Amino acid sequence: MPASPVPPPSPSPSPDGRLLWPAPERNKGPITEVLQRVLPTRGRLLEVASGSGQHAAHASGLLDGWTWQPTDPDAAMRASIAAWTAHVRHPNLLPVRALDLLTEPDAPPAAEDPLAGPFDALFNANMVHIAPWATCGALMRLAARRLTAQGVLVVYGPFLVDGEPTSPGNLAFDADLRQRDPHWGLRTLGAVCAEAGRAGWRLDERIAMPAHNLTLVFRRVAA
Ligand SMILES: C[S@@+](CC[C@H](N)C(=O)[O-])C[C@H]1O[C@@H](n2cnc3c(N)ncnc32)[C@H](O)[C@@H]1O
Repeated sequence: MPASPVPPPSPSPSPDGRLLWPAPERNKGPITEVLQRVLPTRGRLLEVASGSGQHAAHASGLLDGWTWQPTDPDAAMRASIAAWTAHVRHPNLLPVRALDLLTEPDAPPAAEDPLAGPFDALFNANMVHIAPWATCGALMRLAARRLTAQGVLVVYGPFLVDGEPTSPGNLAFDADLRQRDPHWGLRTLGAVCAEAGRAGWRLDERIAMPAHNLTLVFRRVAA
């Protein structure tokens, strides 16, 4: 069964079904600027855990050399992503697909499956703290299986960094998450990088983002 998404702060979708969450509305601009800088000018991007679809709708319009494949395990999220896709009508924003990291088989999908790839980038935002910890390793292994040798893995969210103070807001967020579900909570950068390393990824860049978030850019150890 897919993990529950965060209840949207604004539960009423627009009449056409688009969820509009405040957080992606705030961070979609800074995230897209990072993607424009760290990615090559063209390629195929797989987004895991697209949520409401706001990042996909925004970034695909500014990364027109890229095809953007949104995914989410939750049918309600996929309905919102489909509504955003219909709303923005970006030709490079592909129809949303179901993808649950915890049930995704290791075996490669059939070549004609749109999720077979290979992809040149994988983007994941705001998931590893709000899903079981096992999703982190599963994300890293999926990226290792589906990205090209030069592929780039970009992970965004709030992380705790050993030896560095975090914001009161992040500490309160962490406490709230753990109270809502004991399997949730902010992850440490060290633990995330260890999972990445086990799947063959090295942290190439750590970018400080607004509101004490980070964007982590991973590349293959051998690349
Ligand atoms: C807080 S939302 C983030 C959505 C979006 N990326 C954003 O930044 O606004 C977390 C998302 O993780 C997804 N998710 C939870 N468990 C997952 C899993 N096992 N595999 C893939 N996605 C998962 C949820 O369905 C939800 O859409």
